[in-house]
Amino acid sequence: MASKAGRVAVYPGTFDPLTNGHVDIIRRGSVLFDRIVVAILVNPEKSPLFTVEERMEMTKVVFEDQPGVEVDMFQGLLVDYALKQDADVIVRGLRAISDFEYEMEMALMNRRLSPTLETVLMMPAESYTYLSSRLVKEIFALGGSIRGLVPDVVEARLEENANSGQHHRA
Ligand SMILES: Nc1ncnc2c1ncn2[C@@H]1O[C@H](COP(=O)(O)OP(=O)(O)O)[C@@H](O)[C@H]1O
Ligand SMILES: [Mg+2]
Repeated sequence: MASKAGRVAVYPGTFDPLTNGHVDIIRRGSVLFDRIVVAILVNPEKSPLFTVEERMEMTKVVFEDQPGVEVDMFQGLLVDYALKQDADVIVRGLRAISDFEYEMEMALMNRRLSPTLETVLMMPAESYTYLSSRLVKEIFALGGSIRGLVPDVVEARLEENANSGQHHRA
């Protein structure tokens, strides 16, 4: 880690889809770190609304003007991926008490697996405290407005999907 310039963070998650809460964390992270890699987990067990490629593409659109923000995908152990990226830090978002137990468990297990990799938990703006990808999908499926909850490109893609009949609306 001595030879490289700057601090590198990996921000892993499902991002199905990217919400303004995620965007808020990435922005805050990009102030603290020289590089922040948004790393989308390839998880065959979940049946996502968007493919990993679609999720990467939308995230890239949102951060196209920010060279410090990179977008990638990964499979397998996060600590192995972080090592490959030469990362110093894992960034995760902390919304409420309800996130705490899970994030603490993950952070301590990742520390056990890779003792020098630190986890940094970041709080979003208050207005995103109750925002989750799951809620966005539910609200959208029921015909509610998700304006302001997701980036414009995500809203547009959700609408495209719905119109093309790819996904059922409740
Ligand atoms: N509205 C939000 N504000 C802040 N952090 C968030 C928000 N939504 C999700 N996060 C955080 O972003 C990270 C990735 O979330 P998510 O895409 O749901 O993936 P995962 O499947 O790993 O939970 C997690 O640390 C989660 O707590
Ligand atoms: Mg989650």
